Amino acid sequence: MKKLFAVSLMILLVAGMVFAGGNRASGTTPTPGQTMIGMAMPETHVLRWLKDGASLVEEAQKRGYFAAVNWANADQPTQNQQIQSFLTQGAKALIVGCINDGVAPVIAEARRDGVAVIAYDRIISNSADYDYYITFNNFKVGELQGQAIVDALNLNAATATAPKRIALFAGSPTDGNAFFFFDGAMSKLSPYIDRGVLQIVGPAPRASSDTANFLRISTENWSASIAKTRMENLLISDARDVTLDAVLAPNDTLARAIIEACRADAKYRTSLPVVTGQDAEFESMMSIKNGEQYMTVFKDTAKLAEAAVILADAILKGQTPNIPGAVIASSIGLESIGNTGRKTVTAYLLDPILVTRSNLLVPVNAGFYNDTESAQLR
Ligand code: BGC
Repeated sequence: MKKLFAVSLMILLVAGMVFAGGNRASGTTPTPGQTMIGMAMPETHVLRWLKDGASLVEEAQKRGYFAAVNWANADQPTQNQQIQSFLTQGAKALIVGCINDGVAPVIAEARRDGVAVIAYDRIISNSADYDYYITFNNFKVGELQGQAIVDALNLNAATATAPKRIALFAGSPTDGNAFFFFDGAMSKLSPYIDRGVLQIVGPAPRASSDTANFLRISTENWSASIAKTRMENLLISDARDVTLDAVLAPNDTLARAIIEACRADAKYRTSLPVVTGQDAEFESMMSIKNGEQYMTVFKDTAKLAEAAVILADAILKGQTPNIPGAVIASSIGLESIGNTGRKTVTAYLLDPILVTRSNLLVPVNAGFYNDTESAQLR
C-alpha cells in the first residue's frame, strides 16, 4: 500500500512533463532573446527532488526564462554530462543540486563561459568557481531532530541508572548537508550523553569531525537499502540485548527503511523506537499520522526554488539579490555553511519547520501536497 502511494505521487509529479531520461524543458528551444537557466537535480529516489525540479522550472518560466531541468539518478558522471549539455545549449545560469564534488570541473567550465552558478540545497565543495548558495538552515534541521528526541524520551527526567538508548544514522558522506544535520542533532543530544542518561548503541561519533566513526554511521548516496541493512545488522549485533528508545535518522527515506527493519524484529513489532526524519514526504507524513515515525522536518522546497530563481534573476540582471524569507548565513554565525573548502560563498538560509503528529497540517496548509494526499493527511 505504501509503495502504491509513492508510485502514484511520482506519476502525479511527472505527469505533463517531457520526461525522457530525466529531462524536462519548458519548451523545445528558447524563443529569440530568451535567456536559459539550466537546473541540475541530483536524484529521484528521494522524492523531494522531483518537486524541486518542477518548482524551479515553474518559477523560472514565471519570470520569462527558458528553463530546463535534469535529474541525474545519483550518478555523478551523468550529472556532469547534463550540466555540460546546458552549457552547450547556451544557458546563462545554472542552479545545481549536486551529487558530490566531482561536479567541480564543470562548474569551472561554467565560470570560464561566464555562466553564473548557484549551489542549490547542497554546497558544491572543493570549488572556488561560484559565489552563491541557497539552502535551508541545515544545522537547525539537525537541532530540530535532536530536540524532538530529547522531548519524546523526556530526557530531562531520565536517570543514569535507567538510561535511554539511541542508535545513530547520518546521510551521505558526499553531501555537506549530512555533516550539519548530524552536528545540529548532536548539539542537542550531547548534554544527555555526557550525563549518562542517554547511551549510544553502535558506532558513537559525537560530532561529524570524528571521521572514522561518522563514516560508520553514514549512508552512501542516501540509499534506503543501505540504511535498512545497517539497521538489520545493528539489531542482531550491538542492539541485540537492549531495547532502542530512539534512532536518529537524517531523512524520511531512511527513516522508513529503519522502521521497516525494526518492524521485522519481534521486540519492536508493537512499539517502535522514536525515529526522526526530514523532508515531510507524504509517506512519512502518513507514518507520523499513524503513530509510527515520530517527526519530520518540513522544508518548503517550493519556497527554496522560488528563492533560487529570484537569486538567479538578480545575478543575471546585475542587481543586488534580495531574497524574501532568507537570512545570510554569516549574519547568524553560520558562515561555515558557505565554506566550499576553497572559499566561502554567500549562503542564504531558509527556515526549516518541525512537524510531529500535533502539527501535521502545517505542510498540508502550505500547499505541499496534491489534493488526494492532502485529503488523506487531514
Ligand atoms: C537534502 C535532504 C534530502 C537528502 C537526500 C539532502 O542534501 O537536504 O532534503 O533528504 O539530501 O536527498
